Amino acid sequence: RIAARIDRPVVLVGLMGVGKSTVGRRLAEMLGSDFVDADDAIEDAAQRSIAEIFEEFGEAYFRDGERRVIARLIEEGGGVIATGGGAFVDPETRSLILERAIAVWIDTDIDILVERTSRRNTRPLLRNGNPKEILTRLYNEREPFYSQAQIRVESKNAPHAETAKAILEAID
Ligand code: S3P
Repeated sequence: RIAARIDRPVVLVGLMGVGKSTVGRRLAEMLGSDFVDADDAIEDAAQRSIAEIFEEFGEAYFRDGERRVIARLIEEGGGVIATGGGAFVDPETRSLILERAIAVWIDTDIDILVERTSRRNTRPLLRNGNPKEILTRLYNEREPFYSQAQIRVESKNAPHAETAKAILEAID
């Protein structure tokens, strides 16, 4: 049957490695809407990779850019937006998303995240220490924020298309 129609952007939140970008792309296909990855939009705006932004200017600078870019993407009304894992922790970004969009927290087990993030070492926050310890700490710190999302789906090891379908059903 015809996919759900959305009148607000759907914003995917959750820890790095959970599959926000791939799930988001699938979900946008199912909805027949646009997809945009906020991290890519930040890299485009800065003309630098996320790792370079962290290295050259630091995390606080990255968070400022992230806040502005996400506000712009929501303003533009883009269908499905994948955000970087820390975006929803920022109070301003979080309220904007909760007011103007539908926040979807993709949750999964830490071990799955450790496995997935180990495939590519592009994430500045995982470079200085044991990835499992860092991800566990971030999970505990961020869970109180992620759990404020209107929708939570648990992806476990499901194929990303299945997680996208679960979201589709939840927002219907
Ligand atoms: C971050 C997650 C990354 C990226 C940056 C910071 C975080 O995005 O925004 O490295 O604070 O969790 P992904 O969640 O897409 O890896």
